[in-house]
This record gives sequence, structure tokens and C-alpha cells, in this order.
Amino acid sequence: MSIVGESFLSSEQLSEKDIEQIFSRATLFKKEFLKHKRFDHLVAHNEGLAQKMVAMVFSEPSTRTRMSFQIASARLGIRTMSLDNPQVASLSKGETLEDTFRNIAAMMPDLLVVRYNTNLDADAVIKDLPCPVINGGIGAYEHPTQALLDAFTILENRGQFKGEKVVIVGDVLHSRVANSNMVLLKRLGVEIAYCAPEEFVPKAEAWKGIRSFSNLNEAIEWSTVVMGLRVQKERHATSGIGISMAEYRERYRIGGDQLKHLRPDGILLHPGPVIRGVELSAFVLNDKRCKVLDQVTNGVFIRASLLSIMLGLEVQQK
Ligand code: CP
Repeated sequence: MSIVGESFLSSEQLSEKDIEQIFSRATLFKKEFLKHKRFDHLVAHNEGLAQKMVAMVFSEPSTRTRMSFQIASARLGIRTMSLDNPQVASLSKGETLEDTFRNIAAMMPDLLVVRYNTNLDADAVIKDLPCPVINGGIGAYEHPTQALLDAFTILENRGQFKGEKVVIVGDVLHSRVANSNMVLLKRLGVEIAYCAPEEFVPKAEAWKGIRSFSNLNEAIEWSTVVMGLRVQKERHATSGIGISMAEYRERYRIGGDQLKHLRPDGILLHPGPVIRGVELSAFVLNDKRCKVLDQVTNGVFIRASLLSIMLGLEVQQK
């Protein structure tokens, strides 16, 4: 696999073969877990597994990514050490994030998982650290493990990638999830579109030529998969974004009326956290086509698969 011994920062790094390998191992882990409530016995322990150490530095809030990396590691029998409260770290004494990364890498963990807001100095440093780094969500750049678990959830529910039509709805401009999904899903042969207010239309070169919808109901009718996004207020200019939340809800919130336009076998995704009533209504979260919690479950198996591959662990096929 192209990312063994390397950092994993972008969906761009994954070939179709890499994605197949990650999905195949995640499927194996999930099946085994659902039967036996464990999958660690599939992993060869002759390489000092208990000595493997994953360090995590999260300087932006996280529930799903942080916890699922920790749970995935624990299920594999690997330890994690986490630094995620700047108040108890030397960041609060003025140390920079890039120096924090340098110092933690100097403790020689086997892998480092990072999450942080846009920071060009940190971007430069993580490319040069002596241990491989996993991008657990960097600013508005990318969130490639989220895209992997999203694609895995699409495959699990829709059974294919070719012929699938995914519409990404909402704050696409500020979304690292949208960027990573656009690259990954395109590589897998999925047709992508987005539906966003003018203020949230993506501007990066990679989005040029991607189909866009201005009407949410038409977008949902076209799609087999609807992917909502969180409105990323923390990445908006303090001067505002030119659209009020009331207007946003009126035109882009997916509620029961909008979901009527989704085909019966279509699915609704959202990376979380869902801001109820803004991006999705409480009603649609209970619809059987809504797979938000399945995404979260799959995040554990995808991250366990990725960690095991990146750490070069042998896994016994059943
Ligand atoms: N999807 C996601 O990244 O969620 P968290 O911010 O809670 O990790």
C-alpha cells in the first residue's frame, strides 16, 4: 500500500487498490466484531503489538474522530496517548503547535494523529516529522478518514460506486469533509454534485466542472446519496457570510418535506456533529434512510483497518 511508512494527509494519496485493501480489512473486522465482540485475535501479535503507540494531538474539538481512533486502537490492542486540551499543554505557555508536533514526534510514537485549524507552519512541519502522521481533520483542507468511512457506508448500503450520484449539501466552501469526499468518491467512479448558497460555493480548482444545483429538492431527486454538512461557523469571517441562518435553514435544511424527494432506496449521510434544525431536522434523523450513526460505527472499523495497515500488522483472513 502506498501509505505504509508514509503520512496519510489527503485522499489524493489513495489508489483504488489501497481503498479496496482498507475496505476489505474493515469489513473483516466489522463482521468478526459483530459475531464475537472482538477482532484483535485476527491480528498477529508477534511484532510486539502492545508496544505500538499512537500519539494524538487534537487542538480543535472532536467527538467522533478522536474517540473512534482511540476505540479502534484499543480494539486492536494498541495504546493511544492523547494531547487535546491546550490548557494543560505547553501550548498555553506560548509553545507553537508546530513545536508541539516536533516534541511529540521526538518521543518516537509509531504514528501521530493530528487535528488543527488552518496553520501553514504546522502544515509544513507535519510533512517533515520523523513519524508518519494521519490527518484527523486539518482546517478546511481535508479529512480523509471521514471520506473513507463515508464511502464505506455508501458501499455497504448501496452495494456499488459506479452509477451512484452523491449530492453534497450546504457549507461546501469551508468543508474538509467535502474536499476529501470529492477526491475519493470521484476516484471510485461516483458522480458528484453540490447544492450550496452562493456564499458556500467551493472555489478551489478541484471543484471546477463539478455539477451544482441551486434547488435542494431537485438536487435530492437527482441523487442516490445526500450528504449534509455542518455549517462551519468557526471558519466564517467575523464580518459574517452574507446569508442569515434563518435564510440558510429556509433554503438548505433537509427536513421531512425535502426527504420526500429522495428515492426509497437512497441514503442520507452527515459527518457530524449535526446541528439539529439547521442542517437536518430531528425528523429526518429518525428516517430509516438516514445512516448518520452507521457512519460513526463504520468509523471505528475503517480507522482500525487503516491503523493496522499503516503499522504493517499482519491480519489473518478468516
Ligand atoms: N466527523 C467528525 O470529524 O466529527 P468530530 O468533529 O466530532 O470528530
